[in-house]
Amino acid sequence: MSDVEKTEFTLPAGYDRERSAVSVEAQAEERDVEKTLRPKSIDEFIGQPKVREQLNLVLAGAKRRGVTPDHILLSGPPGLGKTTMAMIIAQELGTSLRMTSGPALERAGDLAAMLSNLMEGDVLFIDEIHRIARPAEEMLYMAMEDFRIDVIVGKGPGATSIPLEIPPFTLVGATTRAGMLTGPLRDRFGFTAQMEFYDVADLTKVVARAARILGVRIDSDAAVEIASRSRGTPRIANRLLRRVRDWADVNGDGHVDLAAARAALAVFDVDELGLDRLDRAVLDSLIRGHGGGPVGVNTLAIAVGEEPGTVEEVCEPYLVRAGLMARTGRGRVATASAWQHLGMTPPPEAPGQLF
Ligand SMILES: Nc1ncnc2c1ncn2[C@@H]1O[C@H](COP(=O)(O)OP(=O)(O)OP(=O)(O)O)[C@@H](O)[C@H]1O
Ligand SMILES: [Mg+2]
Repeated sequence: MSDVEKTEFTLPAGYDRERSAVSVEAQAEERDVEKTLRPKSIDEFIGQPKVREQLNLVLAGAKRRGVTPDHILLSGPPGLGKTTMAMIIAQELGTSLRMTSGPALERAGDLAAMLSNLMEGDVLFIDEIHRIARPAEEMLYMAMEDFRIDVIVGKGPGATSIPLEIPPFTLVGATTRAGMLTGPLRDRFGFTAQMEFYDVADLTKVVARAARILGVRIDSDAAVEIASRSRGTPRIANRLLRRVRDWADVNGDGHVDLAAARAALAVFDVDELGLDRLDRAVLDSLIRGHGGGPVGVNTLAIAVGEEPGTVEEVCEPYLVRAGLMARTGRGRVATASAWQHLGMTPPPEAPGQLF
């Protein structure tokens, strides 16, 4: 399409996803801190009241009947607590957690090895389950339904299939893209927990909790400030707290007050809505490059130099939730608030704020 080539809104020079303060992906140095900050029980887990209530019921019901709980799918954007919740499920059940991921299960044999090592009642956690390869997925169907797999031994006409019993286990799958799961796989989960973006009140609790654990002295209005710029995401809230702490350590005595929080967030390029630079590039392309839309996600993705999947699963859910973008049958459309956020006057046809 010619308007794709015309569009010159690419990510700002020097943009580095991994180092962006608000990028939703976990950064290398962050993984250890994440371990320290992970809530260990369902009571410690902040927010997501609906998911917590539903999970409590699923787990308590199974405990009461003395069986392993149904398979559980955790779905939602990055950084909202899916891995954390999987660990809590195993913890609440008093069993061990075996972790793997969709991309690691390339061959059916990889999965067979995992499954045959399970002990009764174990939780098998498959992260990014939408990326599992087809042969492994087919084996998983049988394991989930009948706690049995067929292991193929040998090749060609001489190949035989040996049935193998698997002890009853609970599969916990996590996905940022529930829509990419095949129907048969989705149907085999007894319960899907849909993780939602967090509101400012819950994120403020996340910040306060992390500050306590990390020994950061922080004023409550500063905690609210960080929370409201965290893009609805605990991972980002925890990261911004650490960046603000850096600022307060260097420019003061480490005490985080509102002025320190604001100054630090400005240094790290976090705007009032906490938008990622990629989010902003998408809005920019949508508005300046395409008059506010409607425009297809592929066109937007090319304009910002990202995979359509990344734009769809990482940027759009938050832009939609923040009332900045609407997804319509004809494509993505910028709302009036999005125009205003970029400091521009919305055209009369721009949809009003959705929420
Ligand atoms: N409800 C919560 N309360 C407190 N902290 C939380 C909560 N949810 C997540 N966190 C924090 O956010 C971090 C990221 O959470 P987690 O790794 O579970 O997200 P995820 O959904 O698995 O992300 P991804 O999709 O990138 O794998 C955790 O280290 C944890 O400290
Ligand atoms: Mg995870």
